[in-house]
Amino acid sequence: MQSRPKEIQDFIDAARILFAAETLSREARALAVEVFARLEQHGEFRFEKRVRFPACDSLDSALEPYLDASDAFGQVARSIKALEPFIGWFRRMTVANASPNFLEGHANGMISGPGGIEDRRDLQLGFTVMKPDVRYPDHSHPPEEAYVLMSAGEFRKDRGPWLSPGIGGGIHNSPGAVHAMRSDDNAFLALWCLKM
Ligand SMILES: [Fe+2]
Repeated sequence: MQSRPKEIQDFIDAARILFAAETLSREARALAVEVFARLEQHGEFRFEKRVRFPACDSLDSALEPYLDASDAFGQVARSIKALEPFIGWFRRMTVANASPNFLEGHANGMISGPGGIEDRRDLQLGFTVMKPDVRYPDHSHPPEEAYVLMSAGEFRKDRGPWLSPGIGGGIHNSPGAVHAMRSDDNAFLALWCLKM
């Protein structure tokens, strides 16, 4: 059986550390334990050149602070950079309460999951990058989800107040919970994992 390419394994190993941090809620960490247990098995690898979107240009400024860091943030940033040409980029096309610049202002990057560099159906592990001053739409989905922030940025759940968990913090969304996020005057970067 083919083994997982190093850049993907490095990303997964470092993301696992970020999703295990005490800065996240117990629910977020519990979900991540299940997702990363599934990642002990790998999917199908697709190193193909992908369509890019305008917000991909914000990736460099979001990663730049971490590129020389020796911790898990640094390892995530360097592995995203190495994988960038092959990332399975996609955009959300719904716009409920989104800012007018949302469509051009965001991109979702799938590493492991449907359409990802590691294509598989049992989970999703990837990230969202947004340009400054973008509000992502209110949305919900059946799979449970956890986010961890690698930049400043805010989250909102169930039409509650906007929360700013800080770098290394995040949120947990129960199945079907309505949630949103927004960038400040910097580029936004958050990792997500979902169990399908
Ligand atoms: Fe979500």
